[in-house]
Amino acid sequence: MKAMYPGSFDPITLGHLDVIKRVSKMVDELYVVVMINPLKNYFFSLEERMRLIEEATKEIGNVKVDKHEGLLVEYAKKNGINVVVRGLRAITDFEYELQMANANRKLFPGLETVFLMTDEKYSFISSTLVKEVAMLGGDISPWVPKVVLEAFKEKVRR
Ligand code: PNS
Repeated sequence: MKAMYPGSFDPITLGHLDVIKRVSKMVDELYVVVMINPLKNYFFSLEERMRLIEEATKEIGNVKVDKHEGLLVEYAKKNGINVVVRGLRAITDFEYELQMANANRKLFPGLETVFLMTDEKYSFISSTLVKEVAMLGGDISPWVPKVVLEAFKEKVRR
């Protein structure tokens, strides 16, 4: 079975990586797909976001990192994927996720969205929080893969 894990990944956090590791054990192939929204401003470029995911997941054999601009369902159809995976951190995630899951199922009947409860260690981590703390000089090392820590240091140095 194939599954996709879509997101902005700006940048990948240990919360994302935890979901990726757990799902990779449940499926044959996991497509981690960086979704491109032309209206959104990202901190890391598309290439950087993809490279950071590739490096953070290089030990996991069945993970493929890809990108997509447009509807999630189009990517799923094109690649023969029927399962979308998302992490749920808290109740506050629920409404948005329910909306997306229902909209996607309407757009592509048969597409299932499966949720993994984020490990409680990472339940408060988000890419937004990580960026804010990093920019204000706080230590983000417990929350992100090493490559992401290096990438922030590199950006701040410049
Ligand atoms: O990491 P994020 O920002 O929570 O991920 C949200 C994402 C990228 C999965 C969502 O915005 C998305 O699927 N965008 C692609 C466009 C699309 O298909 N929109 C309709 C889904 S309801």
